[in-house]
Formats: sequence, structure tokens, C-alpha cells
Amino acid sequence: MTTALVPPGPRGHPVLGSIREIQRDNVSAFMDAFRHHGDIVNFRGPLRIQLLAHPDYVQHVLRDQHKHYPRPRKVQGCLSTIVGDGLVAAEGASWLRSRRLTQPAFHRDALRRFGETFTATTAELLDGWQRRGRDAGPVDVKSEMMHLSLANLARALFKTDLTEAITRIEPAVQRALAFTHRRMTSPVDPLRVPSQGRRRFLDALGTVNSVLHPMITERRRTGGSDDLVGMLLGATDPETGEAFTDAQIRDEVSGFFVAGHETVSTALTWTWYLLSLNPESARRLRAEVDEVLAGRVPTVEDLPKLTYTTMVVQEAMRLFPPIFVYMRCAAQDDTIGGYHVPAGRWVVVCPYVTHRHPEFWDNPEGFEPERFTPARSADRHRMAYLPFGAGPRKCIGDSFAMLQMPLVIAMIAQRFRLDLVEGQHVVPEPAISLRPRDPMWMWLRPVEETS
Ligand code: HEM
Repeated sequence: MTTALVPPGPRGHPVLGSIREIQRDNVSAFMDAFRHHGDIVNFRGPLRIQLLAHPDYVQHVLRDQHKHYPRPRKVQGCLSTIVGDGLVAAEGASWLRSRRLTQPAFHRDALRRFGETFTATTAELLDGWQRRGRDAGPVDVKSEMMHLSLANLARALFKTDLTEAITRIEPAVQRALAFTHRRMTSPVDPLRVPSQGRRRFLDALGTVNSVLHPMITERRRTGGSDDLVGMLLGATDPETGEAFTDAQIRDEVSGFFVAGHETVSTALTWTWYLLSLNPESARRLRAEVDEVLAGRVPTVEDLPKLTYTTMVVQEAMRLFPPIFVYMRCAAQDDTIGGYHVPAGRWVVVCPYVTHRHPEFWDNPEGFEPERFTPARSADRHRMAYLPFGAGPRKCIGDSFAMLQMPLVIAMIAQRFRLDLVEGQHVVPEPAISLRPRDPMWMWLRPVEETS
């Protein structure tokens, strides 16, 4: 009977299965498993999961049968400790309500107004780089992109000067995310065990709240809707007419910090890394930026012409998708690709693997932005590329990210060439996002000195 078939998979340790390999480096464990066992892989041991690599299976779980594949309760619980019942963690009716209320604020047209915010922040970063002088040594691009993406997000959320708030919130969000990652992958919940890590996590949450609460109260007092929080304050559910309370807005805003900060900064960091390793692509990018902008600051109206710049970002996210696993749990027995998926089994979509599936990508490990031209993308399976997820829970911030990142890359490329410091061993670290494990040191070369 085909429905009872268990998918192939690594034998692993007799008791622990593959848990050690997955905890050590889940992306490599999934990639190895895909190479050896194919499109659907069963992992044994205490962490019993099935990896789905084929875009058809991805579509089944994330889109066609999404109602039968909610997030695992453990994942949901860990997220809700940080973001309460906001969009990122909610399920069912409360998720739908949140999504209906937040969606209009994230519509691409509504976001166009933030173009100037993004370019102003980037100009400040570039002026700072200019002031460093020639002998200042290399910069850590990972941390530079982290500050930049946080500043862009914070200014789009609250249209005020947030320098002081950002300095306090950035390490707190980092600490909360690192602890949450540990919670999701540990068999024993570290939040239940008194420890320094737990105390620091709770302190970090306290800091996030102490920064956000007064800002939201103040924002409600001042009124207006020219930033994202202002839009959320004015939003009403089209079906029930209900609005958000301040506490719900806090949950949504902390969700945006969790979901929209490190994702953007890692995508930007990997883009610079890949451009540095692929000088021909970097030259093409520079040529496009010079031709389209002729030295002026880009605006959102330029984006349709910055096609190569956009493809560079897309290709960087193919090779290093910032969110590299999407977890779901089968609510009932199912069959995928002829194999049995029992109720309760965790299924994992790993875009790092699907983005390298040789049936859908030539030269999967190569950096080739040209593969995203409309002609070459036309016949590709819609689920072969999914850095923002798919189905109803697709990223709500995808347009926000895809407005911001090409503008940032174009503006930096206009003024600097970034060269990786030689001899650096760059290692991807699958934590909450797939980020470089260590600082990424790069030389900043003013473009007038490079041509
Ligand atoms: C390069 C940047 C980004 C990437 C790669 C990314 C990726 C993703 C992915 C893959 C998901 C779905 C995860 C799943 O199905 O389990 C998601 C959800 C989400 N993202 Fe993003 N994201 C990015 C930027 C942003 C930004 C800038 C924001 C907000 C300002 C944001 C807010 C959210 C929210 C609220 C959700 C939950 C949506 C829901 O469940 O309905 N993201 N993101």
C-alpha cells in the first residue's frame, strides 16, 4: 500500500537519529539529505521531521493544503513570547484579523513614500564612510548593514528621530532572537530553567517594551498617518470595523522588528559578499547605476529601470535566503509524493535546498543574476524561488524589502566598491536568519579611485 511508505532518509544514530547533525548545522544537514535521498526526506530520532525539497511538495504544504499545515505549536509558542498575538505568531482567526488590518499599510503603493526615508538613511551612512578617510581600515559590512536596515525600519514605523531608541532596541532584539532560536531547537525549553540566559532574555523583552510602549502612546497622541504605526493606528477591520488597541500595535511592531530587521540586513550583507567575489557582476551593476542615475540620488521611480540591481538582490537571496526554514506541522494524515505524512509530523521547507534544486536551476551554486530576467524566469516553477515564503502566510514585508534593498545597493555602488578583505573565512550561520557567522570585513574603495 503506497500510502504507508515512509520517505527515504539518513539512518542517523540509533537513539538520537539526526538531531545532532541538524542542531550543529541544519542547512548542511538538509542539503546532504537532499543530495542523498531526493525530494522528500524522513529524519528519525527525537526530532522527527520530513524535509520537502521539490517545488510541487512546497506548494502542497504552503499553499494548496495550508489549512492542514499550521506552524508547529512549539514554534508558535516561542515566537509569541516575543510578539504576543501579533501577525508573526498568530494562527487561525486572530492571524486573519491581524493580516486584514495590517495588509493595506504594506501595499506597494503605500510604501513608495518611504523611498526618501531609505535614501536619506543611506546617504548618512555613506557620508560617514566618506569621513572615515583613507587609512581607517576595513569596515564590518555585516554590522553596517544591520544599523542601516534597523534605521530604515524604525524610521518607516515612527517618523521621528530614533537614534537613542535604536541604540537601546538593537541589542535587545538581537538577544531576544538568539534565545528564541535556542528555544526552538532545544529538547528542553530554556525558558523553564532559571539561568543567566533566561534572565537576559526577559530583560531584553522588558527593554523592547519600555522603548515601544511610550513611542506608541506618543504616536497616538500626535495623530497622522504618514508612517506605518500611524497607518496601523488608523486601520479598521473592513468586516467588523474594529481597530487595533495599543497593546496589539506593540505586538505587531515588535513582530516587524523581529521579521524585518535581520532579514534585510543579511540579504544586503550577502549581496556585497557575492558582488565582491564576482567582479564582472559588480561592474555591470555599477554601469547600470551610472547609466540610470547619472550621479543623482535614486527614487522609487527609478526602480523599474534598475533591473540588474534588483536581479543581483534576488540572486543573493536565492543563494542565501535570509529565512532558511519554514516549519509546518501536519494536522491530519496526508500523502506527499506517494509517501505517508502522519498527523503531528513536522514538515520543513528549506528554500536554501529548493533554490539549488538542479531540475530548476542550472549551475545552482553559481552567482548569475541574469537568471532572473523575465525571459529566463517565465517557465520556472513558481515555487522554485521563495525567499519570502508562499501562500497566505507569505511575507507581508516583501514589497518593503524589495523597495529598500535595490535603493540601498544602487546608492552604495554609486559611491563605493566593497572588496572582501583577503584570507577571511566566511561561514554561513543558520541562526534565526542565515547570516555570516563572523563580522564581514571589507575595504571601502571610493569609485573615483577604482575606475
Ligand atoms: C529580505 C527581507 C525579508 C525576507 C527574506 C522575509 C522572509 C519572510 C518569510 C519567508 C516569511 C514567511 C515564513 C513562513 O512561512 O513560515 C515572512 C513572514 C513575515 N514577514 Fe518577512 N521577510 C523579509 C522582510 C520583512 C520586512 C521588512 C517585514 C516588515 C517590515 C516583514 C514582516 C513579516 C511578517 C509580519 C511576517 C508574518 C506574515 C504572516 O504570517 O502573515 N518581513 N517573511
